[in-house]
Amino acid sequence: MIQSVKCIGILTSGGDSPGMNATIRAVTRTAIYNNIEVKGIYRGFKGLITNEIVTFKTNSVSNIIQQGGTILKTARCDEFLSVEGRKIAFENMRKHNIDALVVIGGDGTLTGATIFAQEYNIPIVGLPGTIDNDLLGTDVTIGYNTALNTIVEAVDKIRDTASSHERLFFIEVMGRNCGALALNSAIAAGAEAAIIPEISIEKDQLHEFISQGFRKSKNSSLVLVAESEITGGALQLAERVKNQYPQYDVRVSILGHLQRGGSPTAQDRILASRMGFAAIQALLESQRNIMIGIRNEEIVYVPFSKAIKREKPINPDLVNLLKVLSI
Ligand code: F6P
Repeated sequence: MIQSVKCIGILTSGGDSPGMNATIRAVTRTAIYNNIEVKGIYRGFKGLITNEIVTFKTNSVSNIIQQGGTILKTARCDEFLSVEGRKIAFENMRKHNIDALVVIGGDGTLTGATIFAQEYNIPIVGLPGTIDNDLLGTDVTIGYNTALNTIVEAVDKIRDTASSHERLFFIEVMGRNCGALALNSAIAAGAEAAIIPEISIEKDQLHEFISQGFRKSKNSSLVLVAESEITGGALQLAERVKNQYPQYDVRVSILGHLQRGGSPTAQDRILASRMGFAAIQALLESQRNIMIGIRNEEIVYVPFSKAIKREKPINPDLVNLLKVLSI
């Protein structure tokens, strides 16, 4: 094992997700345990450009494992998209003697990291921190389980009022262009249907849902809708129902950013701890430009090129399960 890395920089970027703090803690403590210095970079790649970089000690990450959000703050940084921005970022890295980066975030974060790594030949390890669960090569992302539980708790509450008023509810959830949150929360909350982008391309899910006579045995219905231009979103679907099927009493609930907050579940804390530890292990093994993933409970290294920019397929068994159980 050759240890060439002496000092790492750690940052969180893009949409925050519950478990990011547990990840920062695991990376920091594992690095220090292995005699690697740690620099916390604030506000993602933006902080690398504006030089918001501080030394982290073991107690810098005390009392954060249970906190949602990210103590390092986060941002989506346009400046990092430019050659000039990345040059300043690299110069600041050098000023602080940072010779490798650990970046926590989603698709956009790993895309930025890929360009930066290629341009300056820097070892970078990515950790999948996003509620969307849209990164290929890992079964789950950090924050996904917590967000799923948050959604299910909200849907359970909406069910009470939907049932009392005998209404059809469209509940919109996040996920960017990925239907994982919508489909799995529909199964977990016992909803009638999920309208997700992966299927919207092939068929008109709303028409299918209505024409199957969803109200045969039920007086109220819950439909989970994945936000996306492809599904049209909950408001658009509700408008369609109002125009085409006026006999239904329709309401919309857009869960929004509450899905990204809250204390991470035990499952997310353990995932974050395992992945954070693995990021340092990977650097010690001279790995670079990989994302840490988990497949069948085993930690895996996923090349950036595989993790990003490709659609993660939806499990058709889950689609069928929802259809059968919602009769
Ligand atoms: O990627 C995480 C995510 O929460 C997506 O699900 C959502 O589309 C997006 O971020 C929202 O971003 P913002 O917080 O910038 O509105």
